Amino acid sequence: VAADMQALEENFRQQKRSCFILGASGETGQLLLKEVLERNVFSQVTLIGRRQLTLEGRASENVAQQVVDFEKLDDYAAAFQGHDVGYCCMGTTRAKAGADGFVRVDHDYVLKSAELAKAGGCTQFHLESSRGADKNSSFLYLKVKGQVEADIEALGFDRYAIYRPGVLLVDRQESRPGEWLARKFFSGLSAVGFSSMSIPIAAVAKAMVSNTLLQPEQKTEILENKDIGSLGKSAGK
Ligand SMILES: NC(=O)c1ccc[n+]([C@@H]2O[C@H](COP(=O)([O-])OP(=O)(O)OC[C@H]3O[C@@H](n4cnc5c(N)ncnc54)[C@H](OP(=O)(O)O)[C@@H]3O)[C@@H](O)[C@H]2O)c1
Repeated sequence: VAADMQALEENFRQQKRSCFILGASGETGQLLLKEVLERNVFSQVTLIGRRQLTLEGRASENVAQQVVDFEKLDDYAAAFQGHDVGYCCMGTTRAKAGADGFVRVDHDYVLKSAELAKAGGCTQFHLESSRGADKNSSFLYLKVKGQVEADIEALGFDRYAIYRPGVLLVDRQESRPGEWLARKFFSGLSAVGFSSMSIPIAAVAKAMVSNTLLQPEQKTEILENKDIGSLGKSAGK
């Protein structure tokens, strides 16, 4: 499997594609950027975010940054032009931003970014959504995640991958007590083999990159937690 993956990486590398990442300062996004750079599959990597990030080592030389105001994204259409592949690991929480703020970021900012990317020539979009995302859900979080999934699908990318991880296993810098408790609980369960509800962020990042190299039959794919887990493992390393 590792040899196959290397062949896919080489094949993809030769196509000299470019990508952008939304949310590269976040927990998943940081690992996604690391993965993209380590596997060296893109000839150009651009981070699009609300602030300039301090990058170290290889990233500081090979990564471009575009700082945008997500409230006025139309003014920043140029930042979204000319990328082949878009990755989105952006999001906030209701606790951090309030209900309206959560919808604004996780739906409006994400959708508008995808629209501008599509208009700018992007052909593939990879969205980190959530387990249970459902536009008909009565839970705001799952409803918003499901709605943005559907609205992006309607944009008609040549290829669109939706990742629905369970609880992300990460030693988060900021304090989120509820999440911390869920993580302890789920990482305990996954240690004894019940891993369908949670996933380490490294596996999500690996799966997003590995999946980019594949050529699925469907335009739109939904990768549930277990699919992310097996793709994340098949990346080897
Ligand atoms: N936590 C979980 O267990 C879980 C489970 C399933 C799915 N998810 C989803 O997975 C995605 C990634 O989660 P994560 O925990 O890796 O993310 P995270 O660490 O919370 O990072 C969030 C990213 O979004 C950006 N962002 C937040 N608010 C913003 C705003 N108002 N304007 C512009 N950018 C903003 C942040 O930028 P700054 O650094 O500038 O703030 C950061 O890059 C999210 O969509 C989340 O809902 C999470």
